[in-house]
Amino acid sequence: MALKVLGIETTCDETAAAVVSSMTDGEGQILSNEVLSQIAQHAAYGGVVPEIAARAHVISLDRIVERALKKAGVALSEVDAIAAAAGPGLIGGVIVGLTTAKALALVAGKPFIAVNHLEAHALMPRMTDEVKFPFLLLLASGGHTQLLAVTGVGQYQKLGTTIDDAIGEAFDKAAKMLGLPYPGGPHVEKEAERGDPARFALPRPMLGRPAPDFSLSGLKTALRLEAEKIAPLTQRDIADLCASFQAAVVDVVVDRTRVALRRFRDQVGQPTALVVAGGVAANQALRRGLQRLAGETGLRFAAPSPALCTDNGAMIAWAGIERFRLGLTDDLATAPKARWPLEAPEPKA
Ligand code: KG4
Ligand code: ZN
Repeated sequence: MALKVLGIETTCDETAAAVVSSMTDGEGQILSNEVLSQIAQHAAYGGVVPEIAARAHVISLDRIVERALKKAGVALSEVDAIAAAAGPGLIGGVIVGLTTAKALALVAGKPFIAVNHLEAHALMPRMTDEVKFPFLLLLASGGHTQLLAVTGVGQYQKLGTTIDDAIGEAFDKAAKMLGLPYPGGPHVEKEAERGDPARFALPRPMLGRPAPDFSLSGLKTALRLEAEKIAPLTQRDIADLCASFQAAVVDVVVDRTRVALRRFRDQVGQPTALVVAGGVAANQALRRGLQRLAGETGLRFAAPSPALCTDNGAMIAWAGIERFRLGLTDDLATAPKARWPLEAPEPKA
């Protein structure tokens, strides 16, 4: 029997809705995936303004949901369940998505599924690449950086994390420092493509440390000092700074992931794959570095396409399908959560 789930995502600055279908235990298929980015509304502030984000979700979400259903050719009465990201994220936005999903579930008489946004990133490679449990996951977004052993739906063992900035946050801060627009990751990557990664000798914080943790704030400071030394910056300087920064991040990520892999093998066993997910996983240099590591260690490498790495509704719908198959639905009294660590016990309503 085919399942169809509507997924709603409003935890940050994308208003998104999608319909994903799947055979009971088969592959997923994206029937629609509507993403409305608020970037233009936040650009002048150099980052996401929570109040503006929440208002923008209220204004657009109905239309985005309607469009997702229409493009999928599915009526609300035909979906099997309605899933929404219940956190972690900016609480005003989370409330909008969650309340909308609950209202739709109530009127349509459908089961409701509260999805952890991080779990949605984490499970997406199971849809796009049919990755099997257990796998080693680098989850890298604007707010999170975690190396996790994923052993099942809702089963995460944290191997390492950042002690200061998330990787996406480091990219965003580096971009801001160099006068590039928000969100910085894609701009830094674009500049880096024509830059010289060897021009600036930036540090590789935590390299070689025995625990697979990250620290990125020192790298950001080193970048600032190099930029100040040669200011005013030319286009060439900006490209070289971006390339040097990105190369340092990739070296650190590959080293930390190698250590996490060793821990995984000691603590869990042999993973089926090395997987990268979350917005930063859109970065091609990072993907190449991790792919090389996977090749060296005899592992399969998997990552969703860049558009499915950054926030979207399909990943919420897919996580909804994974949970629904296991009979995991939620009460309409489920609370929105600004913080919701993946390795925490499953929340009660
Ligand atoms: O997962 P996501 O879309 O939203 C959060 O849940 O945070 O991730 C957004 C983050 C931002 O920090 C953005 O700069 C970063 O992912 N990002 C990238 C790239 N595309 C997005 N970082 C590096 N290279 C990219 N190509
Ligand atoms: Zn995200």
